[in-house]
Amino acid sequence: MYEKIVILDFGSQYTQLIARRIRELNVYCEIYPYNQIPVLDGTIKGVILSGSPFSVNDNASPKPDLSGIRGKLPILGICYGAQLLAASSGGQVMPSKSREYGRATLEVMDVSSSLFKDFPIQSQVWMSHGDTITALPRNFLITASTTDIQVGAFQVTNEQTYGIQFHPEVYHTTEGITLLRNFVVDICGCSQTWTPASFIEETTRNLRETLGSDKVVLGLSGGVDSSVAALLLHRAIGKNLTCIFVDNGLLRKNEYQQVLDSFGSMGLNIVGVDASQQFYNELKGVTDPESKRKIIGRNFIEVFEREAQKIQGVSWLAQGTIYPDVIESVSVNGPSAKIKSHHNVGGLPNQMNLKVVEPLRLLFKDEVRRVGKELGLSAAILNRHPFPGPGLGIRVIGEVTPQRVKLLQEADNIYIKALRESELYDKIWQAGAILLPVQSVGVMGDERTYENVVALRAVTSTDGMTADWYPFPHNFLSRVSNEIINKVRGINRVVYDISSKPPATIEWE
Ligand code: XMP
Repeated sequence: MYEKIVILDFGSQYTQLIARRIRELNVYCEIYPYNQIPVLDGTIKGVILSGSPFSVNDNASPKPDLSGIRGKLPILGICYGAQLLAASSGGQVMPSKSREYGRATLEVMDVSSSLFKDFPIQSQVWMSHGDTITALPRNFLITASTTDIQVGAFQVTNEQTYGIQFHPEVYHTTEGITLLRNFVVDICGCSQTWTPASFIEETTRNLRETLGSDKVVLGLSGGVDSSVAALLLHRAIGKNLTCIFVDNGLLRKNEYQQVLDSFGSMGLNIVGVDASQQFYNELKGVTDPESKRKIIGRNFIEVFEREAQKIQGVSWLAQGTIYPDVIESVSVNGPSAKIKSHHNVGGLPNQMNLKVVEPLRLLFKDEVRRVGKELGLSAAILNRHPFPGPGLGIRVIGEVTPQRVKLLQEADNIYIKALRESELYDKIWQAGAILLPVQSVGVMGDERTYENVVALRAVTSTDGMTADWYPFPHNFLSRVSNEIINKVRGINRVVYDISSKPPATIEWE
């Protein structure tokens, strides 16, 4: 078991960011719903109370009983967490005269406080609160203030309990990471040994214990998560892992063969299933995007199940679930608001009567990448743009036919290759081509043409929730446009999508 910090989530939009910052310090931490007070089991070194959209003065606000941990473990309350500590010990929290958002200057009043070790007397912090602590309980001492608020930070005397009104996890708090390090390393005594290598070692050991000589099946998608999950399991149980990679006929050009080759060469047991025809047959005549999604999802499950049943004695299904999905499903009352609608292989485990193993369920996306790198996964897969589960099926707008998929594959391939050659690929969150159900007039040589239109999409984003279109240099756009129109027969017009999300989405569907 790793030593860890527990973050109790009161629903702040920043809760995941706190966890990521702490993990950047090579200290393992987990997010619990606010009412899951950790038991003192020796592995938990400290507790952080997150912020919250609630006011402690609301009747409905989350107010768990902290007596089981107060004074027994180091505690750091951030924003709402600090107000909760103060209010529950007899202090007073009132609506701020003016709600305080944005930069403020923090002045450290108690330079001997361990929380402010290596801090300058004045530094920039980020505030986001509507309430302020107006009176502290008697044994609480002010350790820092800002121009607007007296209780910028406090410490409880003779207790390792701290509160801060500002957000150390956001980038704009210039000494935020120093403060978090002071808390988790100096105050909680964490050893900073949680690294990709230690994660791999511990996880493979656990997987071996759990799985023994059982057989496991995993659906490879070509994306980062399922690839890293496969490599971890392969390291743990070798040939008892079988990966199934389904060609649904909606992959990028050459992708099927590339994935089979690269995993095969790493020694993985991989079964490729070319089911393109089945998907094309089922998609014939269908134009409604939701229907297409359903058909693709249903057929994937069908093909996967059929192949999995061919593996003698398989009892586990491995999935590449990662931490953000896990947190969303357990957070109580304070789930940081999310608009999440896409799930790739939902429904698989229920139908198949297999136990589920999810070796990445504790990792954030960037950590998955670091673990993948440590496991030797190629940069081409590690840094691959996100690609939707239904693939080109939702990028061929209107009816999906093998001919239209082929047309799009060719155009998309030229586009992606040009991005790589121009060293733009890694600057972009996601790029792809879309085949429109529109034909337009053109002229080639002396001939009039009446052919298809392709739209190019490229966006920057951090999580896919919001996105902005990428401002390509004009010469790049003209190069790609020329190449597509000259080389792909059947396309005579290329347009560039300049819509941000919201109000548009990344995929056109
Ligand atoms: P939208 O189009 O909603 O897409 O802005 C947001 C992100 O989600 C990806 N996406 C999917 N990913 N299965 C996935 O794994 C899907 O069914 C799916 N649909 C959309 C999309 O490519 C973008 O990165």
